[in-house]
Amino acid sequence: MGEKKRVFSGSRPTGRLHLGNYLGGLKGYIALQERGDLDCIYGIVDLHAITSPYKSKSLQQNIREVALDYLGAGLDPKKCHLIVQSQVPEHVELAYLLGTIYPVSRVEQLPTYKEKKLEQPDYINVGLFYYPILMAADILIYKADLVPVGKDQLPHIELTREVARKFNRMFPAKSLRDRRTGGKVFTEPQRFATEGEYVPSLLGSGKMSKTIKGSYIELTDDLKTIKGRLAKTPTDIGHGKKIPKEGGVANLLKFVELFMGKKTRQAYEKQYLGKGIKYAELKEKLAEAIYKELKPIQKRRKYFEEHPKEVDKILEEGRKYCSKIARQTLHEAKKAMGLI
Ligand code: TRP
Repeated sequence: MGEKKRVFSGSRPTGRLHLGNYLGGLKGYIALQERGDLDCIYGIVDLHAITSPYKSKSLQQNIREVALDYLGAGLDPKKCHLIVQSQVPEHVELAYLLGTIYPVSRVEQLPTYKEKKLEQPDYINVGLFYYPILMAADILIYKADLVPVGKDQLPHIELTREVARKFNRMFPAKSLRDRRTGGKVFTEPQRFATEGEYVPSLLGSGKMSKTIKGSYIELTDDLKTIKGRLAKTPTDIGHGKKIPKEGGVANLLKFVELFMGKKTRQAYEKQYLGKGIKYAELKEKLAEAIYKELKPIQKRRKYFEEHPKEVDKILEEGRKYCSKIARQTLHEAKKAMGLI
């Protein structure tokens, strides 16, 4: 198949996407799609979502929300392929095969796995343990070269590279004539870093996260909702000798920079060191700037909301395209392992 380098990334369908997902993830997806020299596949990774407590009744709806957020944000089905992970079951079969060559002890050491165990102590299931292997399979099944994800995902990318290397070493595929991988079954992917990938929480510490109430702004928020959310971010008396490096004010200034530009941020910093910032005013202007960026996204999203059949068609096209590649890779992997 094609000579183009391939891109894969995905988001878990845990509800609507927020500003952090947009700036840290989607903007990068779109930048890669626009290059034109890449074959981009973006997934809605439902099988990863079910490793954390969830409601089966809302899962289909949540998958749809992410598809709408993707399309609204500007992912263009003429320039990339969208898939729902569980609709290409080869991901799971490959994950199992990869699991057989990866040591338990290495997964146990992963910081992401340790964090999840702390986050959901009553839900430490085998699927959670398999999370990073399934993610490696998501990437390797398409022999993706580039993976746009945040820094927090680096350990997973490293694991993916390691699994690919180990597989290629253990199971050389002599007869394979895949120009993209130079005769090996798998490619070692690289993380593609995107700008503005760290989006702080509205609460003053940590990053914007769906699981932390009050920390995020959703892509579908209207101006009033955004104002309401910003109103709750913690501030101080408005002036001081030094610009705060962390906390509510630091994060507000970061948002000013992201949505109103560096110059505006500098102007506010000057005020902070001088006559003082009026936060009510700053928040008002910031809310407007954020809404301005979200408005065209919401308009596109609405179009697809009103044309559900078009969304179905886009996902079906993606499924067909991806199944073909996935079947081929799985066949190669099984052959190399002696299963065929
Ligand atoms: N673990 C990723 C996250 O939480 C989601 C994910 C699953 C993913 N499979 C992937 C990202 C494959 C990139 C490639 O953000």
